[in-house]
Amino acid sequence: RHDDDSEARGGKGKAFSEQESWEDQQIRKSQLQFGAKDRDHASEEYELVFDDAVEFVKSAAMAGTEPEDDELADEIDTKVTLQRELQDQRKTLPVYKFKDELLKAIAEHQIIIVVGETGSGKTTQIPQYLHEAGYTTNGQKIACTQPRRVAAMSVAARVAQEMGVKLGHEVGYSIRFEDCTSEKTVVKYMTDGMLLREFLGEPDLTSYGVVVLDEAHERSISTDILLGLVKDVARFRPDLKLLISSATLNAEKFSDFFDMAPVFKIPGRRYKVDIHYTVAPEADYVDAAVATVLQLHVTQLPGDILLFLTGQQEIETVEEILRRRTRGLGTKIAELVICPIYANLPTELQAKIFEPAPPGARKVVLATNIAETSLTIDGISYVVDPGFCKVKSYSPRTGTESLLVRPVSKPSADQRAGRSGRTGPGKCFRLFTEHSYNKDMEDQTVPEIQRSNLASVVLSLKALGINDLVSFDFMDPPASEGLLKALEDLFALGALNSRGELTKTGRRMVELPLDPMMAKAIVASERYGCSEEVLTVGSMLSAGNAVFYRPKDKALIADAARQRFNAGNVGDHIALLNVYTEWEQSGHSAQWCLDHFVQSRTMRRARDVREQLVALLERVEIERRSGAGDHDAVRKAITAGYFRNTAQRRRDGSYRTAKSWRTVSVHPSSGMARVDPPPRWVVYHELVETTKEYMRQVTELKPEWLLEIAPHYYQENNLNKPKPKKAREQGAAAAAATERSLSLNDFFNVQ
Ligand code: CDP
Ligand code: MG
Repeated sequence: RHDDDSEARGGKGKAFSEQESWEDQQIRKSQLQFGAKDRDHASEEYELVFDDAVEFVKSAAMAGTEPEDDELADEIDTKVTLQRELQDQRKTLPVYKFKDELLKAIAEHQIIIVVGETGSGKTTQIPQYLHEAGYTTNGQKIACTQPRRVAAMSVAARVAQEMGVKLGHEVGYSIRFEDCTSEKTVVKYMTDGMLLREFLGEPDLTSYGVVVLDEAHERSISTDILLGLVKDVARFRPDLKLLISSATLNAEKFSDFFDMAPVFKIPGRRYKVDIHYTVAPEADYVDAAVATVLQLHVTQLPGDILLFLTGQQEIETVEEILRRRTRGLGTKIAELVICPIYANLPTELQAKIFEPAPPGARKVVLATNIAETSLTIDGISYVVDPGFCKVKSYSPRTGTESLLVRPVSKPSADQRAGRSGRTGPGKCFRLFTEHSYNKDMEDQTVPEIQRSNLASVVLSLKALGINDLVSFDFMDPPASEGLLKALEDLFALGALNSRGELTKTGRRMVELPLDPMMAKAIVASERYGCSEEVLTVGSMLSAGNAVFYRPKDKALIADAARQRFNAGNVGDHIALLNVYTEWEQSGHSAQWCLDHFVQSRTMRRARDVREQLVALLERVEIERRSGAGDHDAVRKAITAGYFRNTAQRRRDGSYRTAKSWRTVSVHPSSGMARVDPPPRWVVYHELVETTKEYMRQVTELKPEWLLEIAPHYYQENNLNKPKPKKAREQGAAAAAATERSLSLNDFFNVQ
């Protein structure tokens, strides 16, 4: 979600009408290939056509007649050919040769580590093999986890296609706020975070016969926690099969963790990759990347190009520059088909990166880290690697999490290079020096668990009854500082009591798949009688930052349209509420979105999120009530979750955070950025660091609320103003809660 601040920086947005029609076009194109959920009628047709086709061909064969309708016959032909091609393709994947051996190993061992080069067919094939081998006949499912949502969706779509079934039927996916599975689903691709949530409802995972923890080498937080949990489950469920799959060769670590589980290696075919370095460091890697891509396109033999960038905004910028610059190349030069891929790219457009370029044309894929191992794109001969990625980093001291652009690690750079050598010899152009590779790049990527805010994870662990966090079987334990901070935060939110146990509030919070602060705000909304409104705000914030768009040529009108939702300087939270309410009143109209410079895609997503949260609200028995225009009630509920995210204006107009005394500013995209005079106290949703540190989603706050809402956290200073209590003063209770959870004494002895 941090990626998505293009419009905040101004002027990067495309004209909406243009984008929409292009999107529509792409959606139409991709629907034949990929099925999406219910909205997607074309894919339904496709399935019908395919099933019909089989019937049709059968009955025609029986009657000894040819189909009469030529067009239908052609269409059926195409589908049948496509299926046949897909089945042939499956057999060419490296894993295919090892199918029987692998199934035998799985039958003999409960836990297996599977290692194979990216693209060898681990993700798409192994669950199918298990399904074909009868692992689902007793009604149990196969779970295959992915650290990235896009990978889960796209792989599920591919596998559904290979199996000739409609996505969401036998093969489905489950990601946060989107469940594309049904009663029929037996092969379930899901984000690792979703499996972690399922643990809460089903601690022994009975509905699964096989769990594949895929992309384990990525070491995402959720995968790391799952590793510990499934290891435990496997002990008392001997019938459960566990596969840990990794693209890199340091499988020994996984094997060690699972008590010397056997490692099954799928020998990859990897062609030679020529690596080229720049002679001197590049001043601007985006410029250098564009130049390199164009140069490759004009000078090199056919073969597609894969360029690694750090995020959506960068990808959009490069896409725009490349489009502009290739327009002027003339007819002598082949066409360059530009395909972006990043986490927030709409599902419908993701299919495009897998489509081969038309004859004579060359494809360039602009990708984030996702193309490093999660997704394999065929036909890449050239990789351009600036050597950077966005990494999450977390400071337990200040409690801020930020996404920073950093050099990748050596193994990452090598993975990236390897993407060019899958189908033939490849070339990798590194936009950094060889010296920099050897001297500046880390030998290993630090696991996410060691650089993230752990509040959410700790909350889940507590809900699973894991009270003593130190004895949890972490593959690499998180830093004690981070655990302490998470426990303090949860205590401050009222999710834990002084014995470090989950409170009723905490149990309700766990049910909501949101950041603990937002979950708390929603739980607190009950008290303020405005659950409907807070739910809407929460859904809007979860749907992404791209609520508004701002075409260059209409920037002023767009700004005015946006500011209208903030009339009376109600603040960004209420402004989001206003957007949603008006959109709903318009009958969820796309035209309304166009007229008000609102992204209809984000709105539809917010509606989906909201629907899911409404169902969960019933489960935790929070009454749905509307505050009927009482904005302060909504602001108070938000503050009940975000009371640590407050800042006070200083004389010079900048703000200082109450918590850690950092100097911050209101994000330019905020409706509160141009308010005169600026509010004295504000509560914000998050801090983002770009050119400086900004508060995003800002609402004015009455300081006395802090004393009312969070008396355990704030006390009055000598000017009758709230100031955060010192950690110690926040109560011996907090210390006790953490001590119990960490068995502090043991903990520090161990360290
Ligand atoms: O998991 P692993 O990296 O070993 O390979 P995979 O993801 O199973 O990919 C196997 C093949 O399926 C590759 O050749 C991909 O190009 C293809 N694939 C695809 O065409 N479309 C997808 N959405 C996913 C995979
Ligand atoms: Mg894979």
